Amino acid sequence: MALYSDKVMDHFRNPRNVGAIEDADAIGEVGNAKCGDIMKIYLKIENDIIVDVKFETFGCGSAIASSSMATELIKGKPLSEALNLTNKAVTEALDGLPAHKIHCSVLAEQAIKSALKDYYTRNNIEYDHDLIPDDVECAHCHD
Ligand code: FES
Repeated sequence: MALYSDKVMDHFRNPRNVGAIEDADAIGEVGNAKCGDIMKIYLKIENDIIVDVKFETFGCGSAIASSSMATELIKGKPLSEALNLTNKAVTEALDGLPAHKIHCSVLAEQAIKSALKDYYTRNNIEYDHDLIPDDVECAHCHD
């Protein structure tokens, strides 16, 4: 069996939603200290709906595929859904990632949470600190 699924290869070769949003309502950025990869997510939000999302990922192929899939999964969705997006859902939507690449999908989950935190902070909106830790970073990043 190939190491990477067709979906991973597709999202790596043709990533969706690449770029920046100039007048973004929220920006999230996380890095993985170990591999040095960085992921940045831009959100445009109207009435609690993510009307646009873009990403810039300086990282491995799995990180790019994960960001691409994660942006597809939250585009057009309410903030509450984005808040509950897990790296597991991203991995499943990609038809799996090799075990040593799972942390790349965690980076995508954390980048979205970091952007949501930015939005809630900018707008003085209370949020669930269990879902968004105060110091958003990937637990696997320091393995
Ligand atoms: Fe760093 Fe994939 S190896 S995010």
